[in-house]
Amino acid sequence: RSFLNKEKTMLSVTCKAPVNIAIIKYWGKRHEELILPINDSISMTLGTNELCAKTTITASEKFQHNRMWLNDEELLFEEDSRLMRCLKGVQRLAHINGSQEASLCWKVHIASRNNFPTAAGLASSAAGYACLVYSLARLYGIPLTEELTTIARQGSGSACRSLFGGFVQWHRGVLDDGSDSVAEPVASAQHWPNMHVLILVVNDERKKTSSTTGMQRSVTTSQLIQHRVDKLVPERIANLKKAIKARDFQSFAEITMKDSNQFHAIALDTYPPCVYMNDVSHAIVNFVHTYNKTTGTVHAAYTFDAGPNACIYVLKENVAKLLAAIQKVFPTDSIDTVEYLRGLAVSPESNIEKNSDGATDNSIHTTAEHRKVNGMLNVQPKNLLKYIIHTKVGDGPCQLSDDNSLLKNGLPL
Ligand code: DP6
Repeated sequence: RSFLNKEKTMLSVTCKAPVNIAIIKYWGKRHEELILPINDSISMTLGTNELCAKTTITASEKFQHNRMWLNDEELLFEEDSRLMRCLKGVQRLAHINGSQEASLCWKVHIASRNNFPTAAGLASSAAGYACLVYSLARLYGIPLTEELTTIARQGSGSACRSLFGGFVQWHRGVLDDGSDSVAEPVASAQHWPNMHVLILVVNDERKKTSSTTGMQRSVTTSQLIQHRVDKLVPERIANLKKAIKARDFQSFAEITMKDSNQFHAIALDTYPPCVYMNDVSHAIVNFVHTYNKTTGTVHAAYTFDAGPNACIYVLKENVAKLLAAIQKVFPTDSIDTVEYLRGLAVSPESNIEKNSDGATDNSIHTTAEHRKVNGMLNVQPKNLLKYIIHTKVGDGPCQLSDDNSLLKNGLPL
């Protein structure tokens, strides 16, 4: 499992962990330090080839202090209560599990990196803390259990959902110590493998209120939040689980969009308000509704977290058509398609339509349906999007071989 050097003075492990995007949003805590939420949430885990955090942990009897480098910059690890909680939490669990390893008292050096630009404004803390906790578990040889999710939760709430692949529920729990506030898989990635996502990264420079601060303010000032928690979320959780189990995209899509809108309504009901979506985000919302209306069925579902970027859920067979429409409505000057269209290749088959003369054509202007779509969509000014990432539902964290290590002799490479 972990790599011990020849002299047996240094133990090392490298892992990667996925990003997850909430479908039913976590917003509000009932305990700040333990990170206990006021409502259940459900997310989908994204593929690690496109988006992931990678972490190497080396433990050594020779190290004097716990140290950590995040994207090559050193943090004040021992002063960071969330990081220390995760380290101590996994060590305690290893101890309870009967681990006698001397390495449990060794100091650790940790390097962590995201394979996507931080500038993308995507929630990197979920993947980062999930990767930290998973790597520590591998280092000390303890299994991935629900209990481990309670430790990742104390790094960042949403991180507990990144410990599993597919669709994951985080239970709010009722106990004061948080031991029942755990993440649990609802369905694996293999259950609905054609569930894809397009992330539209919006050009935006504005500094946003962090999720931690924003949700604190919502809990103390929003009058709508309690109704959401008591009445609306429980219903939605039940219905979403049904939709996922039945692979019912129509219901899945409707719940996804309604919950995103409700979360942003709560954010606006917060005083002073938290404004996360911008004009481009709203143009994307309009686009998705118009697109769904003109195609006569729901092919796309948007969701927005605490920022302006859109995640659009779409089934694999509809990706090419949707992407063509997005590129028409949100044109770009970017000629570098590799930079602009990142991630999975778009399989052209679903975009090839027969012309009236029987010839195939992969432009979106060919069929009557497409002409209708084009007619209804309002073309926006150029360059509102920075780039697009195409990914899909993915698996949970995994350990990587030693060649992937981010540390050499305990220092960043
Ligand atoms: C809008 O997990 O980042 O993305 O627990 O304070 O670290 P902390 O917050 P965080 O909040 C995520 C909020 C969200 C919704 C979600 O992921 O469920």
